[in-house]
Amino acid sequence: MNHTSPAATEIPLDPARLAEAFRLFNQVSEELSTAYGALERQVEALTAELAAANAETQRLREEAERNKRLTAMGEMAAQLAHQLRTPLAAALLYAGNLENPDLPEASRVGIAQKTVGRLKHLERLIQDMLLFARGEVLGREPFEVADLLGELAHTFEPLARARGVSFELTAEPAGLVIIGNRKAIAGALTNLIENALQAVAESPSPKVSLGVTASAEQLAFGIRDNGRGMAQDVVARLFEPFFTTRAEGTGLGLAIARGVARAHGGGIDVTSEPGAGTEFILTVSRGSADAPPPESS
Ligand SMILES: Nc1ncnc2c1ncn2[C@@H]1O[C@H](COP(=O)(O)OP(=O)(O)OP(=O)(O)O)[C@@H](O)[C@H]1O
Ligand SMILES: [Mg+2]
Repeated sequence: MNHTSPAATEIPLDPARLAEAFRLFNQVSEELSTAYGALERQVEALTAELAAANAETQRLREEAERNKRLTAMGEMAAQLAHQLRTPLAAALLYAGNLENPDLPEASRVGIAQKTVGRLKHLERLIQDMLLFARGEVLGREPFEVADLLGELAHTFEPLARARGVSFELTAEPAGLVIIGNRKAIAGALTNLIENALQAVAESPSPKVSLGVTASAEQLAFGIRDNGRGMAQDVVARLFEPFFTTRAEGTGLGLAIARGVARAHGGGIDVTSEPGAGTEFILTVSRGSADAPPPESS
């Protein structure tokens, strides 16, 4: 029988090669241990860097939150001033009349009642605004969108006619009900329509339209005009409190309108072309399940 000897596959024990293998092994071990030390130091340095970066991120986050709070407070103060101006002016006017020594007693009582009425209105506004500042939307109630649009048309049709502006109410969503603060939404739309009417003052055939479209979640009010339009730098600053290009404007209308839209889970979008016109789209949520239950009246 012809056996292949197992010794033929064994590596011969050459002492010189063995010594070389040990030397190489030691060298690699040393290099590994040096590399490990360097790696450990690198990990320590990176950990320290990460901790510093985390601290910086935290600091920046806190600063951003503080800035956000300050901005919100500034916007609130601006909103409050805008809302309080009209009833305060009326109350001052009435109170001024009371100074007249020749005023008959009956008129005095009537004027005093009107003054108190305006002051009560002011007080209610301040209460509303304080609640609004805490992120609540007052008096959420279900209301018919068609009613709201009807009310706006009732206010603006005669105004537009007097100025020779064609005012169009497109799409009347019969039976569409949403949950929200009707007064606040009406106020926001009023400002958008007033702006549109001002924008078309110089147009050859001035036109302003108000329309609404509904999706499952949201309602979008569109206010379109064929007025002077806006340059890009104006569009960029539109919602800044006090930004205005009108001598008699306060520049708070759009800041407030956007606040109202956001408080209703929506926002305001704008597209404008200088010389051609502008469209504002104000969206509100139709009333989500997490909204406070409607107030009983
Ligand atoms: N439809 C529009 N077309 C052209 N410019 C517009 C339009 N709407 C708003 N603007 C511009 O945006 C500016 C800011 O509007 P905003 O309603 O915030 O303030 P305002 O109308 O100037 O003052 P107020 O606080 O009395 O409403 C306006 O001054 C105007 O330049
Ligand atoms: Mg305005």
